[in-house]
Amino acid sequence: MDADKRRQLRDAFGAFMTGVTVVTTHDAQGQPIGFTANSFSSVSLDPALLLVSIDKRSANFDNFTQSGHFAINILSEQQKETSNIFAQKIADRFSLVPWRTGEYGTPLLDDSSAWFECSMHQVVDAGDHAILIGHVEAFASCGTAGLGYYRGAYFTPYQNAESLIAGPNVVVSALIESAGKALVVKGEQGYSLPAQTVSNRSVSETLTQLFSTLRIEASPGFVYSIWEDRQKKQQHIVFLCAQPTGATLPAVAQGEWVDLQSMTQLPVADSALKSLLDRFIREYAVGNYGLYYGDEAQGSVRQFFTPARQEVV
Ligand SMILES: Cc1cc2nc3c(=O)[nH]c(=O)nc-3n(C[C@H](O)[C@H](O)[C@H](O)COP(=O)(O)O)c2cc1C
Repeated sequence: MDADKRRQLRDAFGAFMTGVTVVTTHDAQGQPIGFTANSFSSVSLDPALLLVSIDKRSANFDNFTQSGHFAINILSEQQKETSNIFAQKIADRFSLVPWRTGEYGTPLLDDSSAWFECSMHQVVDAGDHAILIGHVEAFASCGTAGLGYYRGAYFTPYQNAESLIAGPNVVVSALIESAGKALVVKGEQGYSLPAQTVSNRSVSETLTQLFSTLRIEASPGFVYSIWEDRQKKQQHIVFLCAQPTGATLPAVAQGEWVDLQSMTQLPVADSALKSLLDRFIREYAVGNYGLYYGDEAQGSVRQFFTPARQEVV
């Protein structure tokens, strides 16, 4: 294939939006090694398998294909620099990032959105790459928003939303779903989502404070809904929030977990919230969420992402 065609093919592959990972293991001397990869894919749940492909030109091709274990670190939105470090020819990449050794001896990067420690299941020769198929031995998901990659550029949906939202009349709410239930709080007018006014803080500070008031371990994910309540002169922004692995249905300081099935019968404080929750229940069943634009009475929903509600592997 000539250089032009090769570039066109790369560009066409780049139309597929992905996350970004750093794949790690040790070399023969026991030194940690790793490279940035977006060719990661989940493969099978039972057995738990995943894959990533490695370029045959990689300086560590032999180390990776011959290693007994490797780890996949799914980068969070805060780790753009980490992605760049592990994609460039830098002598000691690990001196530039915080990391630790996992239970199976693989290097795990701190602050990743999720990680998987794998034993090598199979190495498949595939053109100018080899496919490393790993058997997941241990994993965790931290719930933080993952770094995106699209057409050669990073994207950070949560950070983008955060930078656009500010002001004394902005109210952020957290839609936290866990094991088919959502967290709601009871007020005088009926049920609503846990919420807090942004005031002079940033959205992430506001949400962090909200999580700490609820005493819940959660991370803000995507904007699920935006609407304006013209009567109260407030802008409402609802974030779909995730919890770390294993943190299902924790006891919360305020509010209660309500089954999504029975949520349609719940007396809800306001009509905009009622239609948001009805939509969430419908979309949860299908697994494809949309983003709402509008005011408290009318608006439109646009499909914006299909969540990883299923486990990753
Ligand atoms: C977003 C992104 C995704 C990448 N995905 C892969 C990949 O899936 N497989 C791969 O072999 N290289 C991939 N690379 C390139 C490697 O990270 C890069 O060539 C790195 O310098 C390899 O380092 P090494 O030669 O020390 O192994 C990617 C780079 C970037 C920036």
